Amino acid sequence: EIGYKQQLYEANRLAARYFYYQLTQGQGKTALAYLENRKIGEEYRKKFGLGYANFYRDDLLQFMQSKGIPIQVLLDAGLAMEDKGKKGSHYDRFFNRLMFPILDVQNRIVGFGGRVLGDGGPKYLNSPETKIFDKSRNLYGMNLARTSRGGSILLVEGYLDVISLHQAGYGNAVASLGTALTKGQAALIKRYSDEVVIAYDTDEAGIQAALRAFPVLKEAGLSVRVATMEGAKDPDELIQARGPEAFGEVLGKALPGFMFEVRTMAARTDLEDPAYKTQFTREVARKILMMEDGHERDNYIAAVAKEYGIREHTLGSLVNELGNQGG
Ligand code: GTP
Ligand code: MN
Ligand code: MN
Ligand code: MN
Ligand code: MN
Repeated sequence: EIGYKQQLYEANRLAARYFYYQLTQGQGKTALAYLENRKIGEEYRKKFGLGYANFYRDDLLQFMQSKGIPIQVLLDAGLAMEDKGKKGSHYDRFFNRLMFPILDVQNRIVGFGGRVLGDGGPKYLNSPETKIFDKSRNLYGMNLARTSRGGSILLVEGYLDVISLHQAGYGNAVASLGTALTKGQAALIKRYSDEVVIAYDTDEAGIQAALRAFPVLKEAGLSVRVATMEGAKDPDELIQARGPEAFGEVLGKALPGFMFEVRTMAARTDLEDPAYKTQFTREVARKILMMEDGHERDNYIAAVAKEYGIREHTLGSLVNELGNQGG
């Protein structure tokens, strides 16, 4: 079993080398131009081992077989698939895509992400879960971020956000790769840091994902902040448009997780309307009541009161009242 896993790691390693070679010296001209266009330079292209899966649907397969890798290993590594219509016939999972190897914290390649270059979908195709790839326990970029001196970990959505951020000097960036953040991923972050700053995309999906990630991270014992960006849809876009300093400003203004929750609630109601404001205030009070630490409760009562023009005494009393009613 351990020996077989080793074979899968080695297959992935060999595939990553092949993709890398194709990008730089093979048939990867369009992919290389694409990266140039996305402003990813040579140093970071190498650091992340980016590559290109050629246009032909059995290109990797042919190469790997010429190196004596059994087809079963390619299937188990998620690199090849069986043709449903033609039993015993196989083809590559990835073709004509920009390739991102996914490394675990021991620097083993556990899987790949592949981005389309032109039109057509899906935009990203990822390796399936395999004997060596547990998606719920991996974060893209953690192999590098774990050694960064940032102190905190920066949690973003995508591959290109991570690479762009590292290139801009934020070497503590990792990505959850479009899936809902899991307990296992939160525990992985906690191994290396006590604080996480979420910088997901600014669209509705990103806001929802941040709201869902917050309790998971908090539960793992992490202190959580949420960065909010304006005028860009994700960190990569912000950096490309306004530079690394602009992202620094965003980080400086990142809100404590709870204040982000409250702000999201506020944005969804009309605080000019006394009935809605009363409802909002009760909802916030209910959330504050759930905090275990009395000092933390006091601090958030003060912060919310100040931010939303509620008398501190009023909010504090409301929290106590709800507490006496047993929530
Ligand atoms: P770019 O357009 O290249 O900048 O990608 P992005 O990372 O900004 O894309 P997006 O915000 O849509 O997605 C964030 C992450 O979710 C990606 O990096 C992928 O890991 C994942 N993702 C996005 N689209 C898909 C998809 O179609 N299929 C799968 N499986 N994952 C996706
Ligand atoms: Mn998307
Ligand atoms: Mn997104
Ligand atoms: Mn993007
Ligand atoms: Mn995005």
